[in-house]
Amino acid sequence: MEQLALSTDKERPEISRQFNSKKKISVIQDDALKACKKLPDDFFSLIISSPPYNIGKTYEKKINFESYLDDQRTVIAELVRMLRSDGSLCWQVGNYIDNGEVYPLDIYFYPVFKSLGLQLRNRIVWHFGHGLHAKKRFSGRYETLLWFTKSDNYIFNLDPVRVPSKYPGKRHYKGDKKGMPSGNPLGKNPSDFWDLLQAEFDECVWDIPNVKANHPEKISEHPCQFPIELVERCVLSMTNEDDWVLDPYGGVGSAAIAALKNNRRTVSIDRDEEFCEITQKRIIDFYAGRLKMRPLGKPVHKPSGHEKVSQVPIEWRNK
Ligand SMILES: C[S@@+](CC[C@H](N)C(=O)[O-])C[C@H]1O[C@@H](n2cnc3c(N)ncnc32)[C@H](O)[C@@H]1O
Repeated sequence: MEQLALSTDKERPEISRQFNSKKKISVIQDDALKACKKLPDDFFSLIISSPPYNIGKTYEKKINFESYLDDQRTVIAELVRMLRSDGSLCWQVGNYIDNGEVYPLDIYFYPVFKSLGLQLRNRIVWHFGHGLHAKKRFSGRYETLLWFTKSDNYIFNLDPVRVPSKYPGKRHYKGDKKGMPSGNPLGKNPSDFWDLLQAEFDECVWDIPNVKANHPEKISEHPCQFPIELVERCVLSMTNEDDWVLDPYGGVGSAAIAALKNNRRTVSIDRDEEFCEITQKRIIDFYAGRLKMRPLGKPVHKPSGHEKVSQVPIEWRNK
C-alpha cells in the first residue's frame, strides 16, 4: 500500500524511565500532576496534549465536571511554569457530553489558560470525514486544538509546514511584480483548518474501496491516539532542533514519536504502564526503521466515484 511509510534506521538514544535532562527521551509512568511537579521551570519549547475528556473512557473515571476542570487547572498551572518564555502550549480537545448535552471543552479551557497569562495564537479546527453517526443532533466531525504562547516572542517556523498551493501558477497582475509568480515556491500556509485522517482511527480502517486494512499507526490497546502527523505540524512550526517537547497525557507516545522523528528531545507521561510500554516499543521500532507512519502532508483519500462503496446501492435506485 502506497500509504505505509516506515521510519528509517537510526541509532537509538537510551530511553529513560525517569526524567533526566541529559537523556533525549524520558517515558514516565505516573500521574501527570505528580510527574510534572518534578520537572524544571522554563524548560519545554512545546507542550502538546490531548487530556482525558471526562467522558468515561477506559483510562478515566468520570467525575463531576467542575471537579474535573479544577483538577485540570492545577495540572495546567504546572505546565505553564515549565513552558519556556518563547514556547507554545497546544491543547487538543473535543466535547464533554452529559445526558446528551454537549459541552465543547475548548470553551471551558480557554479561560483557564487566559487566567494563567497565556495568549491564544490559533484555534485550529481538526476536521475528519467520518465517525459516529448521531441520531438526535448533527454528527460531530471536528475537534479543536488551542495553540497558546507564553509571550509575543515565540517560535514560529512556517516554511517546514507549508502545503502545496492550489494555484501555484498564479501571477501578479499589476505593480512592480506584474507577471511574476505571486505565491511562495514552498507552498502556502496550511491555515487553521486541518483535514487529517481521524476516520482511520475511529474506524480502524482505510477508506479505500474493497480494501480494509488497519491504519498503520493504530494501536489496538488505545482508544484514542493522536495521528503522528497532527503533532508533527506543531513540532516543526513551533520548535527548533534539539528543543524539548512534553506530552503530560502521552498515551502510546504519538507526540514523542513526532518529536524524535524531527530531532527534538521528549518527555512522555502516562499513568498507565501498558501505554508507557507501548510508547517504548514504538520508539524502539521507530529507531529500528520498523514503525509504520502516515507520511506528513499526504493528501486525504478522496473517492473517485467509481468505487463500489461510492455508488448508490441498487436497492435505492429509482426510488
Ligand atoms: C486522550 S488520551 C491521549 C492519547 C495520546 N495523545 C496518544 O496519542 O496516544 C489521554 C491519556 O491520558 C492518560 N491519563 C488519564 N489520566 C491521567 C493522569 N491523571 N495522569 C497521567 N495520565 C493520565 C490516559 O491513560 C490516556 O492515555
